[in-house]
Amino acid sequence: MSDYDSPRNARRRGGGPRRGAYGRPQKPALKLQTTTLWYYPSQQYSDQPMGLPGYEGRTPAWVIWNLLERYTREGDLVMDPFCGGGTTIDVARDMKRRGIGYDLRPVREDIFKADARKLPLEDEKADFVFMDPPYSTHIEYSEDPNCIGKLSAFDDDYFEAMEGAFAEADRVLRDRRYFALYVSDSFEKKKGFVPIGARLAEMLRGRFKIVDHISVVRGNRKLEKPAFHKAAAEGNFFLRGFQHLLIFKKETAQGGPKDGRGR
Ligand SMILES: C[S@@+](CC[C@H](N)C(=O)[O-])C[C@H]1O[C@@H](n2cnc3c(N)ncnc32)[C@H](O)[C@@H]1O
Repeated sequence: MSDYDSPRNARRRGGGPRRGAYGRPQKPALKLQTTTLWYYPSQQYSDQPMGLPGYEGRTPAWVIWNLLERYTREGDLVMDPFCGGGTTIDVARDMKRRGIGYDLRPVREDIFKADARKLPLEDEKADFVFMDPPYSTHIEYSEDPNCIGKLSAFDDDYFEAMEGAFAEADRVLRDRRYFALYVSDSFEKKKGFVPIGARLAEMLRGRFKIVDHISVVRGNRKLEKPAFHKAAAEGNFFLRGFQHLLIFKKETAQGGPKDGRGR
């Protein structure tokens, strides 16, 4: 029997994770995702939590596991400049990689305080860069005026700030290694839609070679609430059902995007 628990099967069972003995939630075995539509019915892939439990806006641990499994080796240095509750560095260490994380407001001692646009890391030190940056103003991460979560994606300031973070990621990443960005689009009733994923992908294509574009099914609790679906149908808008996962490779040697011939 396949361990894969499709969204349809989960719905038939009434949603939520599979239940095992004594009704305890059971996580399906973690397997490498092999299509461009990624789904796993739990934030965590093991009973040992990765990242600070309850940290708002945290990244699903299994997404990072899949990336590190494909694009890194044991001992590699994995860097996250928007490290939040530390999911990336915990998964990296769980997989015998070295993890280094920065955040404007570190919540753990093993995360260093820094702005993603000015990192205290030497050039070409990281073997993999992962980032899950703020993409709208709905979460108040900190009071710090440099928090990118204070910038609306309806304004160019947000994209300028992200360009600064991409430039730093490019600087610290080794040649021929990979970078992944996890981000959502934004929709606001009166303002409309901003295709954040598409805009950031185009910006990144100026720096890196694009490898692939994955849609990750969102496990957002809001999506289980009938009232939200009713409002979306009546208001003729869509609830955000997936996150973009954009994967790039740094190629500075001849033929890469930087010499203008790789695109
Ligand atoms: C979506 S959360 C990251 C969640 C994280 N991946 C996790 O699993 O916990 C975005 C993070 O970006 C941080 N942040 C916002 N602006 C920043 C900046 N200019 N430099 C560094 N971190 C920033 C916020 O403090 C927040 O922790």
